[in-house]
Amino acid sequence: MKIVWASAALMAVLVVTGCKVGKPGKVESTVMGEIKRNVTIGGKDWKNPVADTPEAVKEGAEHFQHHCEICHGLDGQNTGVPFAAKMSPPVADLSSKDVQEYKDGQLKWIIENGIGPSGMPGWKGIVDDDEMWKIVLYMRHLPAKGSLGAPALYKEEAEEHEHAEHEHKH
Ligand code: HEC
Repeated sequence: MKIVWASAALMAVLVVTGCKVGKPGKVESTVMGEIKRNVTIGGKDWKNPVADTPEAVKEGAEHFQHHCEICHGLDGQNTGVPFAAKMSPPVADLSSKDVQEYKDGQLKWIIENGIGPSGMPGWKGIVDDDEMWKIVLYMRHLPAKGSLGAPALYKEEAEEHEHAEHEHKH
């Protein structure tokens, strides 16, 4: 699972760095944001059936680590994800006001369907409903930015890199 996502992420980086598409203008982004919020994203009226308890949040955190940390970092704020800012659009900071303003149902909808055609994949058929709702709860209780460190995958990579450089000096 991890390896599949690592290569998907790597491909995304290659695509992004391969062609330099200009950022959309301010007005365009705002209009797009409004359309996204009001029209494209469904689930506004879906109620979260899972109670907001510490146990459910903890389970949500575990699912988040399996499926989302590769792009969003352990803390949902992209900590230690080397390509997060280079993606187009960049990986969203899940603690930001824009994301937190979504209703629970909309967040669930985003997990289910993803945000095409950006780099945010949909998880229908991969993550079940109960797990998605718990991930939503985790997104409501994100830890302080940086408090969980970088995902192990990238830490290993950084260490290997350092090691290789060290060898080089001899
Ligand atoms: C392959 C990388 C990748 C993975 C894996 C990923 N995301 Fe994302 N996510 C993104 C990108 C890129 C964006 C920004 C998309 C945009 O703004 O159009 C994003 C945006 C979001 C948003 C904000 C959407 C908005 O409208 O602002 C939420 C919420 C989100 N992701 C949740 C998750 C959750 C939960 C998971 C795991 C189940 C996950 N993501 C897995 C790349 C990823």
